[in-house]
Amino acid sequence: MSAVTMEKLVSLAKRRGFVFQSSEIYGGLGSTWDYGPLGVELKRNVKNRWWRDMVTARENVVGMDAAILMNPKVWEASGHVAQFHDLLVDSRKTKKRYRLDHLLEAQKPEAVAALAEQLGHVFSGDPQSTENIVALLGAVAAAGDVDINGVGILDPSNRKIDADWTTPRQFNLMLKTYLGPTEDEGSLTYLRPETAQGIFVNFLNVQTTARMRLPFGIAQIGKAFRNEITTGNFIFRTREFEQMELEFFVPPADTSKWLDYWTEARLNWYLSLGISPGHLRVRPHSADELAHYSAACNDIEYQFPFLQKDDEEGWGELEGIADRGTYDLDRHMEHSGKKLSFMDPGLNEKVLPAVVEASAGVDRTVLALLSDAYHEEEVPTAGSGEPEKRVVLRLSPAMAPITVAVLPLVNKDGMPEIARKLVDDLRGDFAAFHDAGGSIGRRYRRQDEAGTPFCVTVDGQTTEDQTVTVRHRDSMQQERVALEQVKDYLRANMA
Ligand code: GAP
Repeated sequence: MSAVTMEKLVSLAKRRGFVFQSSEIYGGLGSTWDYGPLGVELKRNVKNRWWRDMVTARENVVGMDAAILMNPKVWEASGHVAQFHDLLVDSRKTKKRYRLDHLLEAQKPEAVAALAEQLGHVFSGDPQSTENIVALLGAVAAAGDVDINGVGILDPSNRKIDADWTTPRQFNLMLKTYLGPTEDEGSLTYLRPETAQGIFVNFLNVQTTARMRLPFGIAQIGKAFRNEITTGNFIFRTREFEQMELEFFVPPADTSKWLDYWTEARLNWYLSLGISPGHLRVRPHSADELAHYSAACNDIEYQFPFLQKDDEEGWGELEGIADRGTYDLDRHMEHSGKKLSFMDPGLNEKVLPAVVEASAGVDRTVLALLSDAYHEEEVPTAGSGEPEKRVVLRLSPAMAPITVAVLPLVNKDGMPEIARKLVDDLRGDFAAFHDAGGSIGRRYRRQDEAGTPFCVTVDGQTTEDQTVTVRHRDSMQQERVALEQVKDYLRANMA
């Protein structure tokens, strides 16, 4: 049936308690979202799976948890104070502000080509390809005060040519805050824009205390903050989000081998969550696109149906796997004056390792899971009525917030007692949920929307022969299973 749209997903997320608008009773706060009872479980399943596969299962990766607030010198060293910018332009007519890259993406190609020509920027192929837009931004930034009027740039809000644009200016994306009682330069610091720097500044502490030898990784999950100009698309781009980052330290000559290794491992990880292979791809960055710290990068992208517009295919980044070389450790050595090289017992020499990073977004993974799982279908109703619409989240059992819902068919004849006992018994091993409210059909629909793979119904027969029905979410098939076999049955069907 029809494809998932953003509206449908936001509505389901709210209806079932996955994600709510933040501060909703006060009218919300731009692009900030709160995870509700089901959302927090889904998110936790993603993070637990990542930690299990990236840290617990690996001998050469250890974890850490750094503070969000760091000495501001960290951000000077990392390059974020000088280089973590977006170029912004304002329309004096409509008073709207745009990121220059997004404004250029919304133009006719002739206007982009004319701007490139004005700046003496040479490109081949599509003027609006990612590579060309990125290179053009570089040319604008390098040229300083650039007048973008006169090349026929449309204001995307009214699709009319605007000739009253301000010159593009740089806007730093880090969120500022002040520590202590005074609000001056001396107390200024930032909310971290990536968790990675907490790892780099602790690199020697971890290496020494955990006695790691190359190659080894340090992993971290935590919040990051960016004062994004253009937010939107639900939890895809927000100002507060969560990252799962691995910094993998290797001998400098080995980075390309490890970049390949982690790209493949991370793609397989998304597949292991049950995401359809056809909706995932790896996209290597072109040289122009690379972040200031990176020598090579592969993005893992998911095809979000709601990002598909006109000729855009809807690919959005879930994770970047980057060769950061020795950039970060070099910069921290330079700015702190501390040596970060160490005697590697395996190599028997002093080394300053290079880094291959795998940096994933928790919220984007949750969005990809919801988007991939969302299905609408028509199902026959009992009797001869019209078929009815069913919304079902086909989450893999390992990701689903609730694994099994236990439902007494009616609230009498001993059924509630058996259901209560069963759900209490299951709780230790599975995410189990008890629901006695409303008709059985309505309860099944609620669990379909929650993505619950199994519903166990206690009915009249249960009191006679100690069996229950297990209903499978996707096929809606039901089987009778002995009460004492339910746990084993669920375990066998989880895979
Ligand atoms: N340490 C490298 C780094 O931070 P990034 O590509 O800027 O690299 C990594 O971010 C991941 O963090 C992205 O692939 C995305 O999943 C997530 N992410 C970045 N900005 C985000 C935002 N504004 N909202 C939600 N997730 C974001």
